[in-house]
Amino acid sequence: MKLTQKTILITGGSSGIGLELARQLQARGNTIIITGRDQHKLDAAQRELPGLHMIRSDVSEPNSITALHAHVTAQFPALDTLINNAGIMRNLNLHDDHGLIEVTREVEVNLMGPVRMIQQFLPHLKTRPEALIVNVSSGLAFVPYPISPIYSATKAALHSYTQSLRIQLEGTGVRVVELAPPATETPLLRGEFDREMQGQRVMDVKVLVKQTLAGIEGGRVDIRPGLSNVMSAMGRIAPGFMLRQLANSTRPKN
Ligand SMILES: NC(=O)c1ccc[n+]([C@@H]2O[C@H](COP(=O)([O-])OP(=O)(O)OC[C@H]3O[C@@H](n4cnc5c(N)ncnc54)[C@H](OP(=O)(O)O)[C@@H]3O)[C@@H](O)[C@H]2O)c1
Repeated sequence: MKLTQKTILITGGSSGIGLELARQLQARGNTIIITGRDQHKLDAAQRELPGLHMIRSDVSEPNSITALHAHVTAQFPALDTLINNAGIMRNLNLHDDHGLIEVTREVEVNLMGPVRMIQQFLPHLKTRPEALIVNVSSGLAFVPYPISPIYSATKAALHSYTQSLRIQLEGTGVRVVELAPPATETPLLRGEFDREMQGQRVMDVKVLVKQTLAGIEGGRVDIRPGLSNVMSAMGRIAPGFMLRQLANSTRPKN
């Protein structure tokens, strides 16, 4: 599959991996639409990349997804690619008090978001001759990071869901790719994880996206750059050992 002349919707395209996907995909001559919640970040992305389309939308809100679908399919009927990239990651100490709504926030964004986006956009994507869905999971889908318990669970679930989706869409024109990034230099890592990431190997976001696009064009459906590949393999061979390694590398914040 050639990633040119496509119409691509990237959730969470105003920062980090999503923004770099927008940069590199726009440079290849694709039409790009990005979403996010913060209008200032969307405006900044559009200033940097003139020609980029942006729509303020929250993947954790079903009504926002319905409105996004109506807007995008009316204005961009050639839409053929959906990249479910929006995500949040928290450093969460389960000993602390957490409200029952707040504690599952990552589930709403990282898991329900892609599931609902796909449910809403799939009928349209199936009408396109060569469509693509990319779900952005994580190396932590294969081995949990105990200081991010909810986040790790959402990514493991997204990995599982993506495999089922791929089987169910066999025989349609919709290809399903899972991108599982390793730790990558973006604002997500520098917020709550600055201390934990000191001295850790972190991938450059440009390199990550370059490898991702090459992987998709090369026909791969499971893209696990750098340490993600190790996490996936070692998570199967020695899951207890890997869990202990990740647990020992950090402790929950106090
Ligand atoms: N960086 C890493 O080390 C790493 C590793 C593995 C996987 N990932 C995954 O890669 C994806 C992108 O992460 P990143 O590192 O690029 O993070 P980032 O720089 O924090 O960017 C996250 C993007 O998602 C948007 N977003 C967050 N919540 C949203 C919501 N409810 N609805 C719509 N948009 C929302 C943010 O914009 P607003 O805040 O304005 O909404 C932003 O554009 C995530 O799924 C993350 O889990 C990252």
